[in-house]
Amino acid sequence: MDRIVIRGGRRLSGRIPISGAKNAALTLLPCALLTDQPLTLRNLPRLADVDGFGHLLNGMGVSTAIAGGSPAEFGRAMTLTADRITSTTAPYDMVRKMRASILVLGPLIARAGEATVSLPGGCAIGNRPIDLHLKAMEALGARIEIASGYVRAIAPDGGLRGGRIAFPVVSVGATENALMAASLANGESVIDNAAREPEIVDLCECLMAMGAEIEGIGGERIVVHGKPSLHGADYAVMPDRIEAGSYACAAAITGGSLELAGARADDMAAIIDALGEAGLVVEAMDGGLRVTGDGRLKPLTLSTAPFPAFPTDMQAQFMAMLALADGASVLTETIFENRYMHVPELARMGADVQTRGRVAVVRGVAGLTGAEVMATDLRASMSLVLAGLAAEGETRVHRVYHLDRGYERLEEKLSAVGADIEREADG
Ligand code: UD1
Repeated sequence: MDRIVIRGGRRLSGRIPISGAKNAALTLLPCALLTDQPLTLRNLPRLADVDGFGHLLNGMGVSTAIAGGSPAEFGRAMTLTADRITSTTAPYDMVRKMRASILVLGPLIARAGEATVSLPGGCAIGNRPIDLHLKAMEALGARIEIASGYVRAIAPDGGLRGGRIAFPVVSVGATENALMAASLANGESVIDNAAREPEIVDLCECLMAMGAEIEGIGGERIVVHGKPSLHGADYAVMPDRIEAGSYACAAAITGGSLELAGARADDMAAIIDALGEAGLVVEAMDGGLRVTGDGRLKPLTLSTAPFPAFPTDMQAQFMAMLALADGASVLTETIFENRYMHVPELARMGADVQTRGRVAVVRGVAGLTGAEVMATDLRASMSLVLAGLAAEGETRVHRVYHLDRGYERLEEKLSAVGADIEREADG
């Protein structure tokens, strides 16, 4: 298995192009199931998860064609056509590898009247149940059966009907499934306590481009007026705010200055505020952001929570950065119960982090040292890369497939701004 090898201590400087957002792409791809006409998605990041989702859709009869012509920096364009859905099953092997596969549930029931999706099971950052997804489908009239590790959902005769969905906790994925399904349901649906993440806004805008009628986009209450059919569209995926935030941490931890080309400040207010509090200078510039550090970092008190608060997907990267701050930081993880898997690995590099339940106390140290490390999830792996960029000596990050799920051309982007980083193949 490949490793990422980093020799730390270099100050990063230059321009990093920000790719299309993974989490937006993973909810825009299943929109193809909602129409028999072609959906072209532009600015798709080149990531293992995007390819995986394409294969999942291929298995359902969706054709995927890479539309050429876009410069590498602007990602890929893909045209997806689901003129005939030939299978309504998301098999265990796909869902196990990629939890976001659950996002075919809503579109399949809405368009084909049924869906059979493997239960995702546990994952590295917690139990991650899908009860809210199922409740949302039930609220639209679907009947749910669970047998042999699969969820089978069946629409009533005449198809899904509008309904009222009130989420007891905010869920990004369940809101996405509800929006996609409600767009093709008969009548009006009201979604309360909807997630407000920018990726939800991106999904709503794509659905609107496909002919959906949605009110309250970006708010806690979203109203969807269902349509009998949707049509094709041409839509560009939003820039990845978590990738941008991760590279901002790279500027911070190396005392460098990076231009994050394409990053959208509006989507990143909580991240930018936290960077500012840590002592970074963050400037909006034409078509992006510039983040500059002087090598000194102030400690922070941060709590993860649904958007617009600080994202759980940035917690691990901030922890790596705060490991080198002048003082003690307190991080509280409120979204996932098991999202401190990077702590023992960071400790092996010299970080001083103590966790108790949801709270982590990070006492800044004078320096980190390179080590062999591995992580069990995507953002945790990035925190180790960041630590490696600042550490003295060599860091080898194992299980690179986690990084390949969510960071497009990571080593290329970082070496272009001065990092000493390469991929090493086994052998
Ligand atoms: C999405 C993101 C992930 C991010 C997370 C929170 C994608 C592909 N992934 O994941 O990167 O970390 O949002 O911002 O977009 N929950 C339930 N029942 C459910 C669904 C969720 O109890 O049916 C709980 C979860 O266990 C968690 C919380 O709700 O504690 C939020 O999870 P959710 O927003 O659904 O995360 P995902 O959509 O899986």
